[in-house]
Amino acid sequence: MDTISIRKDACEPELLEVPRPEPEPGQALVRTLRVGVDGTDREVIEGGHGGFPEGEEFLVLGHEAVGVVEDPNDTDFEAGDVVVPTVRRPPDDGENGYFARGEADMAPPEGTVERGIDGAHGFMSEYFVSEERFLVEIPEELAARGFLIEPISITEKALELADASRSTFEWDPDTALVLGNGSLGLLTVAMLAREMDVYCLGRRDRPDPTIEFIEARGGTYIDSRETPVEEVPEAYERVDLVYEATGYAKHAITSLYALAPNGVAALLGIPDPWEFEIDGGRFHREFVMENKAMVGSVNSGPRHFRTAADTLADLPEAALADLVTRVVDYREFGDAFEAADDIIKTAVQFSER
Ligand code: NAP
Ligand code: BGC
Ligand code: ZN
Repeated sequence: MDTISIRKDACEPELLEVPRPEPEPGQALVRTLRVGVDGTDREVIEGGHGGFPEGEEFLVLGHEAVGVVEDPNDTDFEAGDVVVPTVRRPPDDGENGYFARGEADMAPPEGTVERGIDGAHGFMSEYFVSEERFLVEIPEELAARGFLIEPISITEKALELADASRSTFEWDPDTALVLGNGSLGLLTVAMLAREMDVYCLGRRDRPDPTIEFIEARGGTYIDSRETPVEEVPEAYERVDLVYEATGYAKHAITSLYALAPNGVAALLGIPDPWEFEIDGGRFHREFVMENKAMVGSVNSGPRHFRTAADTLADLPEAALADLVTRVVDYREFGDAFEAADDIIKTAVQFSER
């Protein structure tokens, strides 16, 4: 069967034929429908994040998948069920407590591999196999956009952690600042705009589809070249929630200054090491004196996938149509992984339902 893979020492993905996998006991065989592309895929291709499976010369890409059960094997699924796979799997040296508790998303990096990202093949193949516990069934009508469930689940988990950190007092956020107008940032804008006033920070000139996306959701675009994060309070207002999705390391510090007292910042970006100076006294003092919180959040689990399916069903059709700017056939994936100003979200299609 065909896969979209990256070989060791290559700088571009390619179509690579591999044998179709056979499901082992407890696994189902899934026919892939669509797989989404995000910033992490670009980081993996560029070699800045993740790694190859042990002993393999290539990595099958893709972690945002939706498919149809082709062969349920001995699982409780039925042929034709629409499923979304979670990303994390036990590491090569075996199961650990995080997996045993169903909390793989809380495992440290050495306690897991990630399909399509780090140490395990992904889902950009005509078929894939997966253990039953890592497949989440979704309603048939969500199949075409089911590849959005994984990224939505990333935000579900981050918001759950942020909310939990504010659970000891009455916290009713009504303003949010999303940092980053990539696909994760914009998906989060669409999610938050249902219940809050949302600002979204980018570094693009108009006209730009991401700015149009933000404004179509009722949000306000902030250009970080004119208004850096720490100046948002003066230029606009202090916000209850910051959602960082730029991977720009200074935002891990300046997010705190954009928060109103008692606010929380959720950090999602995955930057490379970068040394810079900060006023540690100001940072520490404001953190404490204004009862602020910051949470880091990576990955997501089956519970977040299930909530994400409900969210996907609830998101306005216009937002989803504006977000997914292209769906390409896998045989002609071409520049599907390249970032471009006119592309928000790309999905690669392997088959139809
Ligand atoms: P992406 O497409 O690369 O988006 C990042 C966006 O941030 C880009 O649109 C970029 O603008 C913008 N940006 C970067 N620096 C900026 C700055 N200084 N000021 C204003 N805007 C800035 O990536 P993504 O898929 O949306 O993901 C966002 C980040 O979250 C990435 O770091 C990714 O690795 C991470 N991520 C983490 C998780 C998790 O589980 N924690 C899950 C998914 C993704 P331009 O396009 O104009 O350059
Ligand atoms: C994926 C997560 C993964 C994270 C770190 C994200 O793009 O959506 O599932 O845990 O990257 O590798
Ligand atoms: Zn991702």
